[in-house]
Formats: sequence, C-alpha cells, structure tokens
Amino acid sequence: MAFQNIIVETRGKVGLVTLNRPQALNALNEALIAELNEALTSFESNPGVGCAVLTGSEKAFAAGADVKEMAEKGYIESYLGKFLDGWTRVAETRKPVIAAVSGFCLGGGLELAMMCDLIIASETARFALPEITLGIMPGAGGTQRLPRFIGKAKAMDLILTGRMMDATEGERCGLVARVVTADKLLDEALTAAAKIAGYSQPIVMMAKETVNRAQEMSLSEGVRFERRLFLSMFATEDQKEGMQAFIEKRKPRFQDR
Ligand code: HXC
Repeated sequence: MAFQNIIVETRGKVGLVTLNRPQALNALNEALIAELNEALTSFESNPGVGCAVLTGSEKAFAAGADVKEMAEKGYIESYLGKFLDGWTRVAETRKPVIAAVSGFCLGGGLELAMMCDLIIASETARFALPEITLGIMPGAGGTQRLPRFIGKAKAMDLILTGRMMDATEGERCGLVARVVTADKLLDEALTAAAKIAGYSQPIVMMAKETVNRAQEMSLSEGVRFERRLFLSMFATEDQKEGMQAFIEKRKPRFQDR
C-alpha cells in the first residue's frame, strides 16, 4: 500500500517509520494512525525485522492529535464510532519500538512516544501535554503513562499547566533515555535499534514484555513473572549459543529459536 502520511523503510533488520505531514507538524489524524498501524503490523509479521524506529521531522515529532479533525466531534458519534480505537497499537507491539524525537512532541504525539519502549531525544525536543489549553485532557494514555514515567508532581505540573519541557529536563526526570544533538538523532536511534535487532528476537521480545509487566503488577508478581520467562529461556537454542560463544570468545550467531 502506498502511504500518504508516513514513510516506511527497512534498514537492515530495523523498520523505520517517519511521520510525514509537514504542513501540519505531523499532527496525528486518523488516516496517519491507520497507516502507522499497518506499518507496525507488517514489521511484526516480518521475521527479518527485529526492532522499529518511529521518528518525525527535525521541527516536529508530532504536534499532537489533529485538532482540526477533532474540533467538531460529538460525544455520541465518538462513543459509538471508532475514535481512539487505533491509538493503542504501538503499545501492543511485541517487537521493540524506539521513538526518535526532535522538535515538538506534544499531546497525542507525546502519548504516542510514551507507548514506544524508549525515547531518544534531540536537544531541540520539546515535550508537553497541552490538551488543557484546548478544553480537554490527554486521552491516549497520557494521564496514566506520564505519572508512571516522571512521578505525580511533575505529571500534574505538565498536565494542569500545559507547559513545555525541554530535552534536558525530560532526561533528568526519566521520560527520555538519551539526549543527542539533532544531527545525530536518527543515527543514534538506528544504531540502538540495530543492536537490539542483532540479539535473539524471542529473548528481546520476552525482555520487553517482562519490563512492561513492571508497570502493571505488584513487585512480587512481577518478579514471579520474570522468573517464569527467565527459566523458559534455558529451553532456547539462543541461550546455548550465547553462552557457548562467550566461553569460546567469539560472537554469538543467534537463530531466533
Ligand atoms: C492540527 C496543527 C496541529 C495540530 C500544528 N498544526 N499543530 N494542525 N492539529 N495539533 C498546524 C497549524 O494549524 C499550522 O497549519 C501548521 O501546523 C504549522 O503550525 P503553526 O502553529 O503555524 O507553527 P508554530 O507557530 O511554529 O507553532 C508550533 C506549535 C503550534 C507551538 C506546535 O502549532 C501548536 O501549539 N500546535 C498545537 C499543539 C497542541 O495543542 N497539541 C495537542 C493537540 S490535542 P496552518 O494551515 O494553520 O498553517 C491532542 C489530544 C490527544 O493531542 C488526545 C488523544 C488522541
């Protein structure tokens, strides 16, 4: 399918999606979300892809959900219709997804970035949940994910005032994994993604799943979940290969089995 709002490529074992609505600072309309979901589904079903990178332009990762598309929506139409149905796809992706964020990362754009597994930001990145200025609140997980990332005090600050946070503050409070200069952003994200994609795919997927359980479960249940999957890894050929390669002082050749 030819995409209108995103560019989809594969670079080696990395799937790359570039949000591409420059005239609207990559505002996320329903057509874009549908295309993004289709791209992620194709990566998931492609055994040659081990990790994805989601990025935007230098000026904007995404300036939020498309306000012009939302402005006239009514309650019943939204409730009965499919508004927001497609927005959880990134969070449900089993292979890792890295958000490479430059410029504005606002509202639904930040909510989308938080559904990814880690955020790598350029020094120019600006994060905010400005929905309050529009007479709404975040609606794609922002009120729930942001406090889990950065704690209640800062999440309240951002959600109730709508203010912008820069990349340094974002890294300091745990929203952002790494900050790099704008010219290095994509390379940094693609290199990290290629590294992840070079490991055993099922082991990477289990590690991601297990870390994500930490957001949902008590500590003791999470540790139990970790133990179960950890032990299951000893049934894989990749565990044998990884450890044998270490002992023989050579690079492992993971087979994803
Ligand atoms: C639709 C948008 C948009 C958006 C920008 N544009 N953000 N269109 N939805 N979220 C459009 C502008 O209308 C304009 O088009 C063009 O992009 C360039 O934007 P400017 O405002 O001219 O650029 P600039 O002066 O540089 O200001 C950048 C900005 C500002 C600070 C990012 O655009 C802005 O405040 N945008 C809205 C941010 C926002 O409120 N996001 C949250 C949305 S609500 P024209 O045609 O006029 O030139 C949300 C809810 C999610 O995300 C809930 C779950 C889905």
